[in-house]
Amino acid sequence: MKYYKDILALIGKTPLVRVNNITKQHKIKAQVYAKMESLNPGYSVKDRIGVSMIDWAEREGVLKKGGTIIEATSGNTGIGLALVAAVRGYKCIFVLTEKASTEKVRYLKGLGADIVVCPAAAKPGTPDHYVATAKRISEETPNSFYPDQYNHPENPAAHYRTTGPEIWEDTEGKITHFVASIGTGGTISGTGRYLKEMNPAIKVIGADPYGSIFKTYKESGFIPEATPYLVEGIGQNLPVGNADLNTIDEIINITDRESFDMARQLGRREGIFCGGSAGTIFAGALKVAKDLDENAIVVFIVCDTGEHYLSKFHSDEWMKEKLLLEPQRISAGLIIETKNSGAPGQLIFVGPTDTIGAALEKMTESGVTQLPVLDDHHSVGSLKESRVLTKLLQNRDLLESPVSEVMDESFPVLDSETNLAEIKKKLQKAPAVLIEDFKRITGIITRSDVLELQK
Ligand SMILES: Cc1ncc(COP(=O)(O)O)c(C=O)c1O
Repeated sequence: MKYYKDILALIGKTPLVRVNNITKQHKIKAQVYAKMESLNPGYSVKDRIGVSMIDWAEREGVLKKGGTIIEATSGNTGIGLALVAAVRGYKCIFVLTEKASTEKVRYLKGLGADIVVCPAAAKPGTPDHYVATAKRISEETPNSFYPDQYNHPENPAAHYRTTGPEIWEDTEGKITHFVASIGTGGTISGTGRYLKEMNPAIKVIGADPYGSIFKTYKESGFIPEATPYLVEGIGQNLPVGNADLNTIDEIINITDRESFDMARQLGRREGIFCGGSAGTIFAGALKVAKDLDENAIVVFIVCDTGEHYLSKFHSDEWMKEKLLLEPQRISAGLIIETKNSGAPGQLIFVGPTDTIGAALEKMTESGVTQLPVLDDHHSVGSLKESRVLTKLLQNRDLLESPVSEVMDESFPVLDSETNLAEIKKKLQKAPAVLIEDFKRITGIITRSDVLELQK
């Protein structure tokens, strides 16, 4: 029989996959390879440290039968630890920040873990911070193990023992550049140290979000004030024990926009469906690779799977809400769906036989200055408050007349697939456009809706 003794036996030995289409488009001569950590059984690079830290705790007698594992995690380390806990019969409590995606939280619960969520804004060192909370819970829980991935030597050691040698062997020692992110620093420090020991000429590059401290801290020794960013699991607001900045030759800052764009492109154009940090790293890898020749071999880490972020940056709605969606992907349908912060309001309209008085009342009630005139879900005209009032000044009796007597021509009607550029073009001339789905008018987009997208 061919089988694995348990799920943990599947951790590691992840393949290298060559990136082809995106590098070609960027006219990159160097070979760029993705180290597919998303193919681990918990779908992230963190499976490696889950098992190594628990092996250590068992060896040292820190974790005994029936014990509880407690950790502060952005989700993936929790998944790695929970896999081991499930196989070996431990309980788990994980402390996350609100930033962790719902998918990761449900995944952890699916693996049997208990979850505590802390405010993302809590400052390090304050009692509400997720690391302080995890520490406190571990102190209060008998027979518990608090791995502390930020400082535990088995974190970088796991990568020194496994990730580094795998990359060295799979590239037959030809790797020239290694690009990774810096969360706890375990991946880049452990893998980087191994690779540099094998060949000191190998360049180790960290890709880090704008807002994180690492670049300034490495280059000047000064710890700047961190600012928020959206990519999960990487960057820090304070130095961490496992981030050995001496192993890193250079740190490149990457914006949220670039990170998510690159992660989305890896899915669409290479079939590598990954998380946002892989996008940060890939963006860094492309910046490094663009100046290299065809002999260069750049390996970057795909830290985790895109499935953890289906409700986040892999959702057009979420990207639009964060003002990060590429304009060519903003369709009329998407604007309508996500108008009013995701709670689509009802389309306000009048019929051609409604009285002008009733139409004006509707405008006042709903705070709008223009209305589409619809007849059986089709657009037959439009009303603009200022024009109606001008006509009323001349003839007040019009208040009782039907809307059809004073209405102007219909607002332009567009298909729900129409893109932002086309919508903007129409809005140069008309104050609003109507959106049609299956031959029924389903929504209206005004100039202010479009301005809202570009705040
Ligand atoms: C999604 C994701 N990417 C990257 C990393 C960074 O890895 P490391 O902690 O080894 O620096 C993490 C760490 O938590 C992560 O969750």
